[in-house]
Amino acid sequence: MSDLKKIKNELFLKLKSKLNLSEVNQIKSDLFGKNGLVSLQFKKIGTIAETERKKFASELNVIKNELQDLINLKIKEIENEEIKEKLQKEKIDITLPERPFVRGKIHPVSQTIDEISSIFSEIGFSVEEGPDVESEYNNFTALNTPDNHPARDMHDTFYLDEKKERLLRTHTSPVQIRTMLKDKPPFKIIAPGRTYRSDSDQTHAPMFHQVEGLHIDKDINMGHLKGCLNHFVKEFFELDKIKMRFRPSHFPFTEPSAEVDIGYEMKDDKIVIGEGDQWLEILGCGMVHPNVLRNVKVDPTKFQGYAFGIGIDRLAMLKYGINDLRAFFDCDYRWLNHFGFDPLDVPTNYRGLSR
Ligand code: DAH
Repeated sequence: MSDLKKIKNELFLKLKSKLNLSEVNQIKSDLFGKNGLVSLQFKKIGTIAETERKKFASELNVIKNELQDLINLKIKEIENEEIKEKLQKEKIDITLPERPFVRGKIHPVSQTIDEISSIFSEIGFSVEEGPDVESEYNNFTALNTPDNHPARDMHDTFYLDEKKERLLRTHTSPVQIRTMLKDKPPFKIIAPGRTYRSDSDQTHAPMFHQVEGLHIDKDINMGHLKGCLNHFVKEFFELDKIKMRFRPSHFPFTEPSAEVDIGYEMKDDKIVIGEGDQWLEILGCGMVHPNVLRNVKVDPTKFQGYAFGIGIDRLAMLKYGINDLRAFFDCDYRWLNHFGFDPLDVPTNYRGLSR
């Protein structure tokens, strides 16, 4: 027992000096660890003569408790010291000006995509997505646009390899192919997303946005196409009536094909959508070509339907009075602050079409 008393006295002295937490922990394990000095004393109990044993054990317990108390006290002391030091170092200077609070805004293109998606969702379309990097097959061949077709030049494609097998999709139409390949008809989907063409001026950017539409079922005809697009245009521009015309056109993946214009007029230098005798093209559409259906293993004698492709950026410009398409992609924070939308809010900067 005298051993332990000696240890206790030594520890007492040791703990008086300035120690850090890991040093104290080391002492703790030297005493109470598996082969610690105190633990060894406990192991000794069995070897002590019976007459002495009780006394030895109870003294040992007392010393053990004292040692533990000493160590715990030291640990507390060190922790308090650390907190004090920290508080002293981390003084908050309340005279400093606060950091500016910047609230993010929703980009008009994202806002427009959300609006378009919700209009089509309400009439039963679900939303699909496809990748920006497409295969030449999905982007052209499967869409009935063979190798030598002039549409391939017209698109001015960004090819990603010498063999022209990979490209940045020139339209959202390949999502039609992806959707029909992975499922069975009927299909009723829209697919918004980024598209790319080698083009840049006030009304064209090399990256732009489209939304594709596809509706395939047993008895779908051009009347459904007209009804659907008319509904969309009225909902999107929030007008009860809107002048609209279907102009015959040509796309390799639709037959017949049409382009859709909406009526507008200029009033005091501002564009007013819906009435008037001027026409503005907003989308391409048509009845899906039987070859496209065959390419995705859908039987054109049983199923048919329509497709459309709408330029999203143009619609956003018209609805929100934005003149230069390129500003959309300049990433100018001041511009976004002005034209962007508050998250979770009803559009706050919608000032009507005549703006
Ligand atoms: N993909 C065409 C383009 O980018 C637009 C288009 C036209 C899509 C007719 C269609 C469609 O789905 O049926 O010019």
